[in-house]
Amino acid sequence: MHVLVTGAAGFIGSHLCERLLRDGHTVTGLDHFNAFYDPALKERNVAAIQQVGGDRFTLARVDLRDLPALQAAMVGVDAVVHLAAMAGVQPSIRDPLIYEDINVRGTLHVLEAMREAGIKRLVFASSSSVYGNAQRVPFSEDEPVDRPISPYAATKKAGELLCHTWHHLHGISVICLRFFTVYGPRQRPDLAIAKFIRMIANDEPIALYGDGSSSRDYTYVLDTVDGIARALAATSVPRYEIFNIGNSGPIALRELVAHIETAVGKAARIQWQPMQPGDVERTWADLTHAQAALGYLPQTPIADGIAAQVAWYQDQTK
Ligand SMILES: NC(=O)c1ccc[n+]([C@@H]2O[C@H](COP(=O)([O-])OP(=O)(O)OC[C@H]3O[C@@H](n4cnc5c(N)ncnc54)[C@H](O)[C@@H]3O)[C@@H](O)[C@H]2O)c1
Repeated sequence: MHVLVTGAAGFIGSHLCERLLRDGHTVTGLDHFNAFYDPALKERNVAAIQQVGGDRFTLARVDLRDLPALQAAMVGVDAVVHLAAMAGVQPSIRDPLIYEDINVRGTLHVLEAMREAGIKRLVFASSSSVYGNAQRVPFSEDEPVDRPISPYAATKKAGELLCHTWHHLHGISVICLRFFTVYGPRQRPDLAIAKFIRMIANDEPIALYGDGSSSRDYTYVLDTVDGIARALAATSVPRYEIFNIGNSGPIALRELVAHIETAVGKAARIQWQPMQPGDVERTWADLTHAQAALGYLPQTPIADGIAAQVAWYQDQTK
C-alpha cells in the first residue's frame, strides 16, 4: 500500500514510517518541520527513516494548512495516517488559536483532500486527554467525552467529530486512536520523561506537580506504532471506530521518577509545585476493545522502555 503519514518527521510519525517501510509499504512522509521543538531533531528522524526506506520513502515538506500542496501530496496514495498536530496541554492554554488552526482546520484539510482524491482509509491520532477528569477507570471508549479540560483536548475531540462527519457523508473508513502518554527514543523534548532524563543526567532540579500521586498510562512508542499499524490494516473494512491505544498499567509520578533515577544512575533533585490547570489527575486505558478488534496488546514493561529511552539519550549526547 502507498501510505501518507502526516507528522512523519515527529516522534511517533518517524517510528511509524520505519515500521510501515519494514512491512513493505511505500510511504510519503508529510511534515513542515515546525519550531515547536528543535527542527534539527526532526531532520535527524527523517534521515533515519530514509535509511530504512530508500526510494520507497518520499518526503513532502508541506504545511497541512496549504490545501493545494496537501492535495498534490495525496496523488497515488491509498491510505492516510494523520498524526500532524500541535501536541501538548500547557502550550495549548497559552496559545489556543494555533491549536485550532492546525488541529481542527488542518484535519478538515486532510479530510477534504482525501475526499477529492477518492482516498477511503484514514487513521486519526486522537488523545487520552479527551477523557478529561473522567472518574470511571479504566477509561473506556464508551465513556462520554464532552467535558475536555484543555484547548488541546477540545481540538482532538473536534478532530474525532470531523472524522465521523466525513465517514458518514463520504464513506471514508476511519479509525480514531486515543494515544496514552507515549514515550521512548525520539520522544518530544517537552514531555516529562525526556525532560526528567535530561535534567537528572545534568544534576538539574526537576519540578513535580501535585503530590506525586497523579498517574499516567505510559505507553512505549513501538507498542503505539503497532496499534497504528493494526488500525491501518483494519480500515480495509468500511467503519468509524475509536480505540484506546495505551498500556493499561498506570504509573504514579513519583514511581516514574524512581524508574528514571534507576536507569540514569542518579538521584533526582525534586521541587514540588502545585498541580497545573489543564492537567488531568490520571489516565488509564481500557484495552478490551482494541485487543478484541485489533489484536492490540502492548509488550513493553515501563522499566525496559525507560532503559531504552535513557540509552538512546546517552547515545545522542555522546
Ligand atoms: N506523544 C504523545 O504522548 C501523544 C499522546 C496523545 C496523542 N498524541 C498525538 O500523536 C500525534 C503525534 O504526536 P508526537 O508526540 O509524535 O508529536 P510531534 O510534535 O513529535 O510530531 C508532530 C509532527 O507534526 C508536524 N506538524 C505540526 N503541524 C504541522 C502542519 N501544520 N503541517 C505539517 N506538519 C505539521 C510537526 O512538525 C511534527 O514533526 C499528534 O497528533 C499528537 O497530538 C501524542
